[in-house]
Parts: sequence; C-alpha cells; structure tokens
Amino acid sequence: MKKLENKLEAPFELLLLADPSKQMISDYLEKGTCFVAINDHDDVIGCYVLNSVSPIEAEIMNIAVERGFQGKGVGKKMLDHATNYSKSCGYTRLDIATANSSIFQLYLYQKMGFEMLRLEKDYFVHHYGRDLLENGIPIKHKVVLSKTL
Ligand code: COA
Repeated sequence: MKKLENKLEAPFELLLLADPSKQMISDYLEKGTCFVAINDHDDVIGCYVLNSVSPIEAEIMNIAVERGFQGKGVGKKMLDHATNYSKSCGYTRLDIATANSSIFQLYLYQKMGFEMLRLEKDYFVHHYGRDLLENGIPIKHKVVLSKTL
C-alpha cells in the first residue's frame, strides 16, 4: 500500500466506483489521506480514503477495487491496512459506512471485524434521490459499522 502525498494523484475514477458524488469525494479527499494498492506492474488497482473524525476515531470514507481485480482479496488487504495504520496513529475506533442494500459490503465488513453501530434512516434517499435499487433492494439507509482497535 502506498500513501499518496499529492492529493491530485488520487484515482478519481476508482473512487467514483464507491461513491457517485464527485463533490463528496472532493470534500473528504481534501481532509483525508488516500492510500493506493499497487500490483506488480505498478498499476493502481485499489484505493481507500481515511479521515480523522476525532482524536480517537478514524473513518474509511471510500474503498474501491478496480473491477478486474475485485474478489481477489485486495479489499480485505486494504481493510487490514486501514486497521493497522489507524491503530499505529493512536486511534482506538475505526468506522466504515455502507448502504442497507450493499449486501456484499455488509458481509465483508462484518467478516473483517466491523460491527453495526447505527442506522441513518433515509440518508441515501435525501442525498441521491428515490427509486434507486441495488441487489433488487431500495437504497435507503446508511449503515455505520465500527471496529474497536
Ligand atoms: N459478491 C459476493 N462476494 C464477493 C464478491 C461479490 N461480487 N466479490 C468478492 N466477494 C467475497 C470474496 O469471495 C471474499 O469472501 P471470502 O473471504 O468468504 O472468500 C470476500 O468477499 C472478500 O473479497 P475481496 O476480494 O477482499 O474484496 P474486493 O477486493 O472485491 O473489495 C470492495 C471489496 C467492496 C472494495 C470492491 O468489491 C469494490 O470496489 N466494489 C465497488 C465499490 C464499492 O462498493 N465500495 C464500497 C462502498 S461502501
């Protein structure tokens, strides 16, 4: 994993896989730290953005893996890296959020030690509009998961 010192190098197209809002991505990139996963050919195949929420809490704001490299363990490696890096910085809690409809992400995050903490009702309806479906499920609520470090 490589920490990007220059935010202008952040892989925007990749970040858009996890979040359709360019404005929101720009906002949290500005405040946070972007890490990229690189393969043997020096290609960026994944990335995540870590933000500080408080002196003891960090949050993964975005995590994405290039389509052709998904399902090969890159996401798990990045979640492990975010956990270890946050711990080494002195944070005692790490959060990550997803949608009620993101079944695979809910599976992955819980498998990686995150526990459901709270639900922000109708968050996605207010931010992205109605009638959006994922896995045949209406995308409505934001599920915040948390891990004690
Ligand atoms: N459906 C179901 N399970 C899947 C899957 C899929 N499409 N892709 C991977 N998995 C399983 C793997 O088999 C593995 O399970 P196992 O440990 O039981 O074997 C587990 O999920 C870990 O997968 P991994 O390969 O580490 O995940 P990844 O590299 O694909 O990264 C994401 C996960 C979510 C970051 C990636 O799929 C992605 O970028 N998705 C699009 C953007 C996104 O949704 N970001 C998150 C927003 S909250």
